[in-house]
Formats: sequence, structure tokens, C-alpha cells
Amino acid sequence: MRVGILTGGGDCPGLNAVIRAVSLALIEQHGAEILGIERGFLGLIEGRVRKLDAAGVRGIVNEGGTLLGTHNRADPFHYFGAGGSDVSARAIETLDRAGVDALIAIGGDGTMTIAERFARLGVPVVGVPKTIDNDVAHNERSFGFDSAVAVVAEALGRLETTARSHGRLMVVETMGRHAGWIALEGGLAGGADAMLLPERPFDPDVLAAHCFDRCSRQGFALVCVAEGAHELGGELVLQSGPGSVERLGGVGQRVTEGLQRRLGGDLEVRHTLLGHLQRGGNPTAFDRVLATRFGVQAARMVVAGEFGHMVALQEGQCRAVPLIDVAGRMRQIPESHELLIAAHDLGVCLG
Ligand code: F6P
Repeated sequence: MRVGILTGGGDCPGLNAVIRAVSLALIEQHGAEILGIERGFLGLIEGRVRKLDAAGVRGIVNEGGTLLGTHNRADPFHYFGAGGSDVSARAIETLDRAGVDALIAIGGDGTMTIAERFARLGVPVVGVPKTIDNDVAHNERSFGFDSAVAVVAEALGRLETTARSHGRLMVVETMGRHAGWIALEGGLAGGADAMLLPERPFDPDVLAAHCFDRCSRQGFALVCVAEGAHELGGELVLQSGPGSVERLGGVGQRVTEGLQRRLGGDLEVRHTLLGHLQRGGNPTAFDRVLATRFGVQAARMVVAGEFGHMVALQEGQCRAVPLIDVAGRMRQIPESHELLIAAHDLGVCLG
């Protein structure tokens, strides 16, 4: 049996642990041959494939990034390198030439959507969800999320000591495009006084009044803003990116300026953009274990011929869910989520 693996989309701590687990489980238990496809679907389009052996994947369970490399815009059905045309046949040719019996695609919603299209064309594919944003549909917890939350919590803790010393209001911008899980859990873990989430458009006057009250009572305040958060009736704050890429970022600065305007000169408002610090570095032990579980489950699904499915954590168990149910969807924070209720009960401003 020959199995191809690729990692697509933005990188995420824990990808190497999945590559290791898939490879070791299939080599040790089934004598399979593992082929690593470089830079996600770009490697399939360009035919960049190399053999992975057991020695090559040992000792990487704790390493961040992805040893295969990745690419976040290489969609074979709409390939930027060919003016947006469909080059999926070229990608399938790569798999056929390499004699691949099954493909494991590790990635976020974009990768799962592409994997589902390949499944419909008859490619035997198994998906593994990856994202620090924790927003892949039907999956309770993605590896990488815990590592990102730890960075946010650490940052808030550091900002608190300096905010307290200067009597300042600190605004921190986290990742989280359409779902605010990182800001919510990171904010709770770091004791934020306000959390602004993409799911809950905020009122800048309510936020300012809340921050003023907190600063009056405790001498400082911390605001945690997801990059996809926006004002009531407002729009996403975007940076310019290459071509048609929609790159988020800047809402933290916008919120900071708005707060400073409303609160006047007596209270100083500063902002910090965490950006890719949340995605870089090594995975937490929790993420290493979750990634390993996902990798072993993906290997089992390949052996069982459960193609066209994605590994998912549901009720704490690894299960197989149809890719068609995942493609084009995302998992946002439900309105009545327990953590939102907890934050509300603690007096945190949620917009
Ligand atoms: O991995 C998802 C994500 O972290 C989003 O929260 C963020 O908007 C995006 O990746 C940034 O991606 P890039 O590295 O391509 O700018």
C-alpha cells in the first residue's frame, strides 16, 4: 500500500505530529510506503513528491511547522498559476504516476473543500482537520488551537503587569477570521475585561463605557479582539494582500484609536498585534496528543477504506465524518455557548 500525505493552508503547531503518527502507524502496522507531497496541493500540481521513512519522521512530535511545507492558495480547481483555471487532472496524474493508493489531506476548511472535490472525482482521500482557529465544521477541537490559546494567555499576562504599572488600557488583536474561539479562550485564560468576537458585532460606545468603568475600579483594563471582529453595522478590517487575497488585520488598532478618542487624554490606550506568533513555535503537549490521535485515526480510516471522510473529534472520541458535510462550512461560537455565558457572568464585555 502506498499512501500520500500533504499539508495545505496556513501552518499550525501539531502538523508534524500528524505526519509522524500517520507514517508510523501505516509503516509499523501495515508495511506501507509513505509519500510526502511538498507544499500542499502545489506539490500535487507540480509533481513534487518524496518518500518518507520511519527514521525521517521520528523525533518530530514536538516540532512546530510542517516538514512537508504548505501553500495557502494552491487550489487545483482554481489554480492561480494558470490564470484561475482547473488543473485538477494534472494533480490526479501526479497521484497515478506515483502509484498512490490513498491520499491524506491535512488542512482547514479550504483543504477539506478541495479534498471533497477530489473525492467526488474518485480520488481515495481522507481528511484531517487542522487550524489554530478551531473552526472546522463538525470537529470539536483542532490541534494547534491549544498552542495558540497559550500564546494569547501568556501575552495577556505579560501585558497585565505593564498595564497595571502604568494605569493603561491594553488592546490585543488575535487571529480568528470568522470564529472567535482563540480570543474567547485566550481572553478567559488571560483574564481579559472585554472580548470582541466575529460572531458578536460590538458597540464602540458600550465598549468604551465598560473599559472606563474597569479602569476606574482596577486601574487598568485588557481588551482581546479577534481579527474578524467588527462594529455593529461595520465591516471587516482588511490589510492589502497580493492579488485577490483577503488578509485580515488592523481591527485592534482601529479599536484602540476609537477608545482613545472616546476616553480622552487622561487614560492611555495601547495595542499589540500577536499575528503569526500564535501560529509559530512548538505544539503544547495537548496538541501533540490530539494530533497523534488524529494521525492514527486517519491511518485506520485508510486501511478500512473509509474514503471521502474526515477525522473529527466528537464527544471526546475520534470519528469519521463525510467530507461533504464539512466542505464550505465553518464552526462558529454558538450564541448560548457555555464559555460566553461564563464570560458574561464574570462581567466581561462581549460587545
Ligand atoms: O490559520 C488560520 C489563520 O490563522 C487565520 O486566523 C488568519 O486570518 C490566517 O490564518 C492568516 O493566514 P496567512 O498566514 O496566510 O496570512
